[in-house]
Amino acid sequence: MSVMLQEVNDDNMASENEQLSAQLLDWYDGHARTLPWRAKPGEAVDPYRVWMSEIMLQQTTVATVGRYFAAFTTRWPTVADLAQAELDDVLREWAGLGYYARARNLHACAKAVAANHGGRFPDTEEHLLSLPGVGPYTAAAIAAIAFDRRAAAVDGNVERVMSRLRAIKTPLPGAKPEIREHTLDLVPAGRPGDFAQALMDLGATICTPKRPNCLICPWMSACRARDLGIAEALPMKAPKKQRPVRSARIFWAERSDGAVLMRRREEKGLLGGMLEFPSSGWATGKDTGEKAPPYASGWASTKLVVEHTFTHFHLVLDLHHTDELFDDLPALDGDWRWVARHELAVEALPTAMKKVAIAMLGSDVFRRV
Ligand code: ADE
Repeated sequence: MSVMLQEVNDDNMASENEQLSAQLLDWYDGHARTLPWRAKPGEAVDPYRVWMSEIMLQQTTVATVGRYFAAFTTRWPTVADLAQAELDDVLREWAGLGYYARARNLHACAKAVAANHGGRFPDTEEHLLSLPGVGPYTAAAIAAIAFDRRAAAVDGNVERVMSRLRAIKTPLPGAKPEIREHTLDLVPAGRPGDFAQALMDLGATICTPKRPNCLICPWMSACRARDLGIAEALPMKAPKKQRPVRSARIFWAERSDGAVLMRRREEKGLLGGMLEFPSSGWATGKDTGEKAPPYASGWASTKLVVEHTFTHFHLVLDLHHTDELFDDLPALDGDWRWVARHELAVEALPTAMKKVAIAMLGSDVFRRV
């Protein structure tokens, strides 16, 4: 292509991109979701609230984040307040959201902002990335939403919208760099924060995984995937690898008042800092050989089996119990405790352990009163 034709082509693409951003922003002006961490029109954006919401949204849904966000920001209205909080109070307020490592990072990040940044969040992606618990997506989201920096905040929703708009057929995760480029090309100089949130809202409300509502989409006519009739098939995902199987025995023990024996896992590693029922080690393979209990009792199989798939392996748990009722904690290394049945619903149990509790006690234990 001649240099002149290339320039004309670039100009056309730039103006098409501007048109797309303008269409999305127009739509957002009329349809933005009202969310507790969003600044109301005319209100200044508070980076602390943006950061807090992004960390919580990594963990759970918009609907659940609402009450945690309210509790945290009422108790600690500024990053300075959170930096001065006791870690234990932060962890308790976090209970139910899971993954305590995130809560620890939340506290560490508040301390870092207070100690190293004069109590103000840094305002560039690069500097935000240096904070504890802030990865590339979160840094881009905060830079855009809190500081109106041109940044591509690409989460799962945005991956779906962009792969459809541009009909990107490369499977994820390989398509990520391409999607990021396309997203960044669209970020307008004027309202990067609104643009980031508009993309998230479009993905959450219209460009949904199943049965996207194309007829009311502001990008209906520009969407290549719709044109090709393949919107619902995108984004493509690389086939899942067969996961290795690990197996273990759970040893369910009760105190005479019905409390259940649990231990807190090490901070580092899988399910770091979360509660689990006593078990043998998680052996590799379908090995059904001897799996030692943590202490001696009249252990017998319940014949119940619970399975759970983690990112890197599939776990099969064989549930054992004992008729012995305890009054004291067994003398064992590690962080052991009795957990009353009504507390099981309040503690943030990993899903695998929830499945165990449901198998043993029925699903009512998780019904909050
Ligand atoms: N998901 C992640 N961040 C979000 C935000 N700021 N608004 C809505 N949904 C989100």
